[in-house]
Amino acid sequence: MKTEQIVLTGEGDDQIFRRAGQILRDGGLVAFPTETVYGLGANALDPNAAEKIFAAKGRPADNPLIVHVADPRDAEEFAVTTPAYYRLAAHFMPGPITIILDKKTLVPDSVTGGLNTVAVRCPAHPAARRLIQAAGVPIAAPSANLSGSPSPTTAAHVAADLSGRVDMILDGGECSIGVESTVIRLTKKGCTLLRPGEVLPRELAAFVEEVMVSPAVLDPDAAGDKPQSPGMKYRHYAPKTKLILVEDTASFVDFVNRQEQDCGVLAYTEDMERFAGRKVMDLGKKEDPAGQMHNLFRILREADNMQVPVIYAPLPPKTDEYLALYNRIIRAAGCEVIKGWT
Ligand code: TXA
Ligand code: MG
Repeated sequence: MKTEQIVLTGEGDDQIFRRAGQILRDGGLVAFPTETVYGLGANALDPNAAEKIFAAKGRPADNPLIVHVADPRDAEEFAVTTPAYYRLAAHFMPGPITIILDKKTLVPDSVTGGLNTVAVRCPAHPAARRLIQAAGVPIAAPSANLSGSPSPTTAAHVAADLSGRVDMILDGGECSIGVESTVIRLTKKGCTLLRPGEVLPRELAAFVEEVMVSPAVLDPDAAGDKPQSPGMKYRHYAPKTKLILVEDTASFVDFVNRQEQDCGVLAYTEDMERFAGRKVMDLGKKEDPAGQMHNLFRILREADNMQVPVIYAPLPPKTDEYLALYNRIIRAAGCEVIKGWT
């Protein structure tokens, strides 16, 4: 298949969106930018179209897709909306949050991986919104990477993974957030956080009585065989090069300088100059979790270019602000953490 890649310029793109919308209505695949990461879209109400996503990504069939809408109310067509959904939607949508609701029969099993629930997201990125509107149908879209590799934050990342496997890639520049949406499941008393993202637990707590954090957020092994959010059970985001996290971040520089001379390092900006002769990549400023998160997926993609046998990185704290970073990097490292070496 030939993949058409188109750079979006803004106002004059009507014709492009009309064509992209037509591709989606015809059962094709269109990759597009969102404020979090690039998505790989298909008509969410067309079982064959949704199945093409799994084939293009090499994604396990039991890992369900998020359904994207232009307006939170559009979810009523295919999901059982509740007062809590609308309360959260009024504050957080459009934006980087995904809410799991009971599904209606209209959603094909191929989209939900056979679950009786469906994930709903209303993205804020103008190109994503125009695409959904142009398609006139809800859009099922996972991150637009090959299954297991880091989520794409530029159109070049998408093309590297999916060129020849999708009909069209819309290039809207770099994603502003750089990590996927916060995923929550509504419960009787509040919600359970299944995947951390830019919307933090304490922000959710202002709108619901109780916010539980699923054990799998911090510990991939806790996901077991039947995780609440199936995507959290797979080894994910991993570079080909071995990545090892170091828990004692205060002495991270000393630790790395005692390791093999040819190792690589993901370092805080402030420490970049302190690693004698090692190959260093800039993770972002120490007290800037949003900046680190913005960089992480790009760095994980570039890590293999360092051509080193092993890369060390500091283990982030488990606090609210760093939860998304911790959750992604621990999976990228296959849970390999060095503890208490000093
Ligand atoms: O920011 C995002 O959410 C991006 C952009 C493209 O919108 N999308 C994204 O999709 O990250 P994906 O497929 O890479 O991740 C979806 C996550 C997976 O962990 C999946 O298991 C979970 O959401 N999920 C989807 N439907 C679910 C459901 N019904 N119940 C529980 N978890 C669900
Ligand atoms: Mg993904």
